[in-house]
Amino acid sequence: MKILVAYYTKTGNTKKVAESIHQALDTNDKELKSMKEVEDVGGYDLIFCGFPVHAHSVPVPAQNFLKKIQPSTKVVLFSTHGSQTEGQMPKEAIRNAIGLVKGEVLGSFTCRGEVEQEVIDELMNKPEHRAWAMEARSAQSHPDSADLEDARFFARNIIRKAEGFAKFARK
Ligand SMILES: Cc1cc2nc3c(=O)[nH]c(=O)nc-3n(C[C@H](O)[C@H](O)[C@H](O)COP(=O)(O)O)c2cc1C
Repeated sequence: MKILVAYYTKTGNTKKVAESIHQALDTNDKELKSMKEVEDVGGYDLIFCGFPVHAHSVPVPAQNFLKKIQPSTKVVLFSTHGSQTEGQMPKEAIRNAIGLVKGEVLGSFTCRGEVEQEVIDELMNKPEHRAWAMEARSAQSHPDSADLEDARFFARNIIRKAEGFAKFARK
C-alpha cells in the first residue's frame, strides 16, 4: 500500500501533525509532502490530507488538492484549528472537505493549533469576533505532545482499517 501524507500549512501546526502521522506509519512505502510539492496525486493507494481551518472551512489550495484526488484513492482527512475540538467549526470544515473528495474517506482527525497573534489581535477589536478570539487564545502551545500522540494513535488505527479492506478485496 503506497501512502502519501500531504499537508497545507501557513504557520507550521498542520505540518507537525503531518510529521507525526507519517512517523506512525509502519511501512517504507510512504511519503511526506506539502500539497504544493505533490506533482501527481495518482499512484497512491491512500492519501492523508491535512489543512488548517480557515474561515470555518478548507483553505482554497487544500480544496484544489482534494478535488484532484481520483475516486480509486482512499483518503484520510486531518485538520488543526483554533476553536475548541468539541465545537461545530472543526466538524463543519471536515464536512466541507468530505464533500470535495470523490473517493472513500476512511476517517478524520482534528486537533487544536495555536493561532497567530496578529489574527487574534485583529479579531479582538471586532465586537462580533471577540468571543471567538478569546477562545482561540486558549489554543496556545497546540498541537502539544498529547495531540501528536493522538495523531499517531489515529494513524495506526486507520492503517489497520485500510489493511482490513485490502485483505477483504483480495479474497
Ligand atoms: C486566516 C485564518 C483564518 C482562520 N479561521 C479559523 C476558523 O474559522 N476556525 C478555527 O477554529 N480556526 C481558524 N484559524 C486558526 C487556524 O486554523 C489554526 O491556528 C491552525 O492550527 C493553523 O494551522 P497552520 O499552522 O498549519 O497554518 C484561522 C487562522 C487564520 C490565519
